[in-house]
Amino acid sequence: MRREVTVIKQAFAKVFGDADGLTIVRAPGRVNLIGEHTDYNDGYVFPMAINFDIVMAVRKRPDQLVRIHALDLARTVAFSLADPIGYDAEERWSNYLRGVLWALQEAGVKLDGMEIAFFGTIPQGSGLSSSAALEVATALAVKHLTGFDLALPELALLCQKAENDFVGMKCGIMDQFISLLGREGRALLLDCRSLDYEQIPLELGDYRILVCHSGVKHSLVDSEYNRRRAECETGVRILAAEFPAVRALRDADLDMLTACRDRMAPVIYQRCHHVITENERVLKSVAALKAGDLKRFGELLNQSHDSLREDYAVSCAEIDLLVTLARKVEGVLGARITGGGFGGCTVNLIHVEAIDDFKRQVLPEYRKQTGIEAQVYVSTAANGAEILWD
Ligand code: GLA
Repeated sequence: MRREVTVIKQAFAKVFGDADGLTIVRAPGRVNLIGEHTDYNDGYVFPMAINFDIVMAVRKRPDQLVRIHALDLARTVAFSLADPIGYDAEERWSNYLRGVLWALQEAGVKLDGMEIAFFGTIPQGSGLSSSAALEVATALAVKHLTGFDLALPELALLCQKAENDFVGMKCGIMDQFISLLGREGRALLLDCRSLDYEQIPLELGDYRILVCHSGVKHSLVDSEYNRRRAECETGVRILAAEFPAVRALRDADLDMLTACRDRMAPVIYQRCHHVITENERVLKSVAALKAGDLKRFGELLNQSHDSLREDYAVSCAEIDLLVTLARKVEGVLGARITGGGFGGCTVNLIHVEAIDDFKRQVLPEYRKQTGIEAQVYVSTAANGAEILWD
């Protein structure tokens, strides 16, 4: 039996009396390799699932009561399905689960009462999508329990709706999608308009994906995130006035942008410039990987960071420092911020023999300049969410 199954069973029994009749699922976090702030612009993203996840045990109750226990926080919430599911301003973590149950009800799924316990290994506040993993674990577990029929891409959309309309974070589709559809040894090229996707083998030879957690999370994330979305929408309106085929920044190219530059505030131009060039970088990255050209892939990662820092303005001093220090390490082909921004993690393409140098050079210097202990994780591409026990 997998260790996490034993752990969650024991914990479940402690909270709810026994561990009979459990369904146990896991849902992973993700690191986005490239394609940042493109998902809500109908563009391309290229994430992989990681070996850090949410593990959740669920079973039905004969009544309408839902009881949820968060092991890491040692907190329990309870509510009845007889009443409309409400937002919990005190136990905010519970809103990701409540949101999914709410979205299922909205979709016409008849829910039974249930008992849920879960824990997570995804570093908190790291930008590695622990919240999407929590939504996905809930959706998959309840799908199994109730037997409703939804394909995985629709399940991802349902989790996104929970986050957009219940939690209030206007995220795109990337995080939920990769948490459900990730595949071992592969990164996922996703077209966020059609939801067509391709599982691309991540053949890195002697190179590895190293994730470095800055240890900072600036409070601006949600408000600045929603503001970037609004700025992109302004850009689309200006572009569409000249080029009616432009429905999203996905449809625009640099020539169109240049043609409209005079009609845009500089900041709108910059936001559009990032998204348009970032979409191109995703496709170029996939082509470089398919051709086995890791050096080129690394250059594109670097360009992505520079564009996110300059044009999209979602980096911060700590992350820029990590990127600058990483690029000085021999054997690092590329380094950039990953995820929504304003802290969180960097993603680095690094030679396996340079990992110790990275730890020796980057971490102490970062500590010296910021007083913060950064964390390093080397992860291979993991499988998406799955049933571990039933
Ligand atoms: C967050 C959101 C994603 C995506 C990224 C930026 O992780 O949840 O949908 O927009 O930011 O690429």
